[in-house]
Amino acid sequence: MTKTPLTLKYRPFQLSDVVGQTFATQTLKQSSIQDKFSHSYVLVGNKGSGKTSTARIIANLLTCENPDSGKVCGTCRACTTIHKGAAMDVIELDGASKRSVEDVEKIIESAQFAPTELKNKVFIIDEMHQLSNTAISALLKITEEPPEYVYFIFCTTEFNKIPDTILSRSHKFLFKKIAVSEISNRLKSIAATESIAVTDEALLEIAKISRGSMRDAIGYLEQMAILAAGKEINGKHIQKYLGGTDRQGIYNMIQSMISQEYALLLDQANDMIMCLVDIKSILYDISDAFRSIMVLKVMEADAKFKNPSSKIIDLPESEISKMRTLGEKMTMDQLEKLSKAFTTIGKEMEYSINDRWVLETILIRCATLLKNSA
Ligand SMILES: Nc1ncnc2c1ncn2[C@@H]1O[C@H](COP(=O)(O)OP(=O)(O)O)[C@@H](O)[C@H]1O
Ligand SMILES: [Mg+2]
Ligand SMILES: [Zn+2]
Repeated sequence: MTKTPLTLKYRPFQLSDVVGQTFATQTLKQSSIQDKFSHSYVLVGNKGSGKTSTARIIANLLTCENPDSGKVCGTCRACTTIHKGAAMDVIELDGASKRSVEDVEKIIESAQFAPTELKNKVFIIDEMHQLSNTAISALLKITEEPPEYVYFIFCTTEFNKIPDTILSRSHKFLFKKIAVSEISNRLKSIAATESIAVTDEALLEIAKISRGSMRDAIGYLEQMAILAAGKEINGKHIQKYLGGTDRQGIYNMIQSMISQEYALLLDQANDMIMCLVDIKSILYDISDAFRSIMVLKVMEADAKFKNPSSKIIDLPESEISKMRTLGEKMTMDQLEKLSKAFTTIGKEMEYSINDRWVLETILIRCATLLKNSA
């Protein structure tokens, strides 16, 4: 028997399981407590950020027999069928696979009939941007004046594809990219439950390369666990197989710039390139480290902002303290010059026939700019 993929096994069941989308989850919790739901919701945002999961949770809250303080009961008919896709009165239309006018017309027709098993009838229109325009206009009519028991939830990654008429009638929730620290925390708890041996650094690397998508992150963790076959997964493995950069390697390079060790610097860059890290990622990660150092310096100079939020510097405390130490050796003036040095690098990479040389040149330029640092 094949095992359930971890992304499905860890699909959020309660609002409180949804990570990082507090505006949506807090509002929906209150809607459930006060029993005040909108007849139409639009969930829009980044892929793998929890839209489909939240749509099902809303459907469940609308149909659960005994919801309590924004939580579904977990045992009633709605609770046991919705997440398996087996609830008759929760109808999912996936714009990616079914997108004809006929499919939509079937929905509209069935909306005329009262629910058969559950107390409400919920339509989830997933990947809405994939629906044809005629299919969408057919939908518009029914969403205008839905029967008392009918609710619509639209999910999409593309805000501008949602007709204004639907937007204006709906409660809208923006699903943001999930912060690196929130992803790595979630991965940590999944890894613990699944007995996957993995270092914190590796989790951080996976979270970073997933670019805000929890689905991608959990998928990578599972892939790496299969590959590692019981051995511990570390940062180097992620770098080698998934192409992220080794963070400690980046900090070591910045340290060499500060201490003016040019040869060591090029040697460290070589190590990274030999691990098949692509040159653009190395440059990006160095620039991002300088950016974090600068932001941290500015924020920590002001007592009101002494603990910058994870939204500004998306790194765990252990990494932030390394940035702080490196930052002590740099002046704001130097950081501004470093930022300038990186602004033209995109163009240089585009036109160069030798990416590696561009990288080595910028590393040396950075080291020169950091000369005479404390
Ligand atoms: N905000 C989140 N909190 C917890 N898990 C999440 C979150 N977003 C995505 N996931 C994980 O990724 C999987 C896919 O999420 P899904 O809701 O289908 O994303 P979307 O519809 O936004 O692409 C879920 O089953 C879950 O394992
Ligand atoms: Mg989805
Ligand atoms: Zn229930």
